[in-house]
Amino acid sequence: MRRHRTTAGAPTALRGGLEVPGDKSVTHRALIIAALSAGRSTVANANLGRDCLGTAALLSALGAACEVDEAKAQVEVEGRGAAGLREAEGVLDAGNSGTTMRMMLGVCAAIEGLSVLTGDASLRRRPMLRVVVPLRRMGAMIDGRAHGDRAPLVVRGGALDGLEIDLPVASAQVKTAVLLAGLRAEGPTTVSEPTPTRDHTERMLLAAGADVDANSKRVVLRPGPALEARKWEVPGDISSGLFLLAAAVIIEGSHLTLTNLSFNRRRAQALSVMERMGADLAIERTGERCGEPVGTVTVRASKLTATNMGGDEIPALIDELPILAVLASCAEGETVISDASELRLKESDRIEAMVAGLQSLGVDCEARPDGMVIRGPANLTGGEVDSHGDHRVAMSLAVAGLRTYDPVRVRGWGCVNTSFPEFLDLLGRAQGRRA
Ligand code: S3P
Repeated sequence: MRRHRTTAGAPTALRGGLEVPGDKSVTHRALIIAALSAGRSTVANANLGRDCLGTAALLSALGAACEVDEAKAQVEVEGRGAAGLREAEGVLDAGNSGTTMRMMLGVCAAIEGLSVLTGDASLRRRPMLRVVVPLRRMGAMIDGRAHGDRAPLVVRGGALDGLEIDLPVASAQVKTAVLLAGLRAEGPTTVSEPTPTRDHTERMLLAAGADVDANSKRVVLRPGPALEARKWEVPGDISSGLFLLAAAVIIEGSHLTLTNLSFNRRRAQALSVMERMGADLAIERTGERCGEPVGTVTVRASKLTATNMGGDEIPALIDELPILAVLASCAEGETVISDASELRLKESDRIEAMVAGLQSLGVDCEARPDGMVIRGPANLTGGEVDSHGDHRVAMSLAVAGLRTYDPVRVRGWGCVNTSFPEFLDLLGRAQGRRA
């Protein structure tokens, strides 16, 4: 098993300007929408972590060849049109990626024939009924372990009906699966969500020529218009960027700028939380990519105070909660994270994994059913922690280790490659360790 060990000695400041790789959520969607468009599309500045490469491989297996150019961080997709994908010859393995599994269930529901989807041990433990139930209502036959709640899942796809649904959980993956299936359904599909979730799919379908109407409460999609092949220029991944921004905030003498980050307001709430905690942060909008505002964020090392996180803001910072927990451990006072029980259903149980990791490093914190309580500022110490096979846990704990004098060893480091293989390289550059 791979390990990462932070260096011993005084913390090294992060300085200068960097651009993080493309957004993982947007890359998954660009690949899928390109496969469902007629003709050749280019996905530029693509995220080439294992999760997105997995989506590309599945689309290739369904007949939309995806050619990856690692050097250019680009994928060429031979789109087949909404009706052009065909049954794969083998099992579709989504690896560690819940986004791949859930979105591809929506795609497979509309493919005439049989699709079998599976994933790694973590993904096979994650709940799937939230997406299986609406797709069944649209007419797909889906079965799997635990009556269809756990992969491996078997989909008998084909003709679908449009659906009007109030989703019980706030999940952009489920919303997306239903909308992708709706592209080929008979009649319109309307999805309402309890709390607004990331809206990349709606924005990108609109940009590709679909008939979509979206507001903060619901999305209406009317099937019909063919999706247009095009070039997708993926914005920088704010979730990856947050690891570097957070490191800069907690390490004295840091002054770091990240460019071309996506500021989608349903994704960028972590920046508002950091401001609330007292982070010295400047945001400047510089343009638009994939229908999303992008810009530059500059941070300086700052003294932080505790804040609470909960309610409707949770979906807009769900993936950033592990790294925000690290910031909370460096902040003065008690931070309470609530309404975040979804964290227990991610690549690992992120509440237990983060609380165990932070406690090993000397942080006074405890788990709650729907979040955690963290009391700071902690005098972080070195030690050995476990990633639980979860990329965001691994990088969050590694960032905590940048503040300690003694090294922090993160067990199970290889999972970082699912979303951000470039993490150590960019961190090293910001710390002046590489050109
Ligand atoms: C994602 C949605 C979120 C998020 C995940 C990516 C997406 O999951 O946690 O990392 O790209 O749609 P849920 O839909 O389960 O909330």
